[in-house]
Amino acid sequence: MKGVILAGGTGSRLRPLTLTTNKHLLPVHDRPMIHYPIRSLVDAGIGDVLIVTGGEYVGEFQRVLGDGAALGLARLTFAAQRGAGGIADALRQAESFAVGEKLCVILGDNIIGGTIKGPAERFVAQKSGARVLLKAVSDARRYGVAELDARGRIKRILEKPDHPPSDLAVVGIYFYDADVFDVIRTLKPSARGELEITGVNNAYVARGTLEHEMLDGWWTDAGTHESLAEAARLARGS
Ligand code: G1P
Repeated sequence: MKGVILAGGTGSRLRPLTLTTNKHLLPVHDRPMIHYPIRSLVDAGIGDVLIVTGGEYVGEFQRVLGDGAALGLARLTFAAQRGAGGIADALRQAESFAVGEKLCVILGDNIIGGTIKGPAERFVAQKSGARVLLKAVSDARRYGVAELDARGRIKRILEKPDHPPSDLAVVGIYFYDADVFDVIRTLKPSARGELEITGVNNAYVARGTLEHEMLDGWWTDAGTHESLAEAARLARGS
């Protein structure tokens, strides 16, 4: 399995910090944010990683990460994200990197205290489809939220719903088989004009091949000033 870190976007919620650099290069406690998703992948045994980011920032990432060997990566490559078409649109840039392999896709601002080793192993053993991780949160309206059916399977995922059907947020760490690129090609832009990752996951629900499990340990995104401060606090204690 290969790893993809989506590290693009404008970082508008973190202005003025993001006027000088990309969000994922900002410090979280004692290291740049991008180190955390890399660490999650390396810890899960995934050493072949692609970072998708705005073309103007590739040089800065390379200065910070070098060839990735110091962080345990076997191979680090970059792809330039074109435009701001949403998370699923950014993932499209990984098609030639994936060459038919399964992928673990991490949103670069998602930081966890635990490990995704178990979920990664279970996805390798999964014949096909996709696997998402869920976490109970107090403010589900900020996230993709899972609605479960009577058997405990995901019935659908709602993106930032006003009335969340549960408190189960979909974590920004996803496992996909190689079909994901065909799935993305079937998506239509959402109301906010983006190709949503929730659309990808719901397509796997429709195919009956979306598995899920609960994520152990703490999880935060670091996309707002408040959550960036919280991420630093949690990272300091872990
Ligand atoms: C994205 C996804 C959302 C997910 C979240 C996790 O939202 O669209 O489904 O729950 O990441 O961090 P964003 O924070 O990019 O708006």
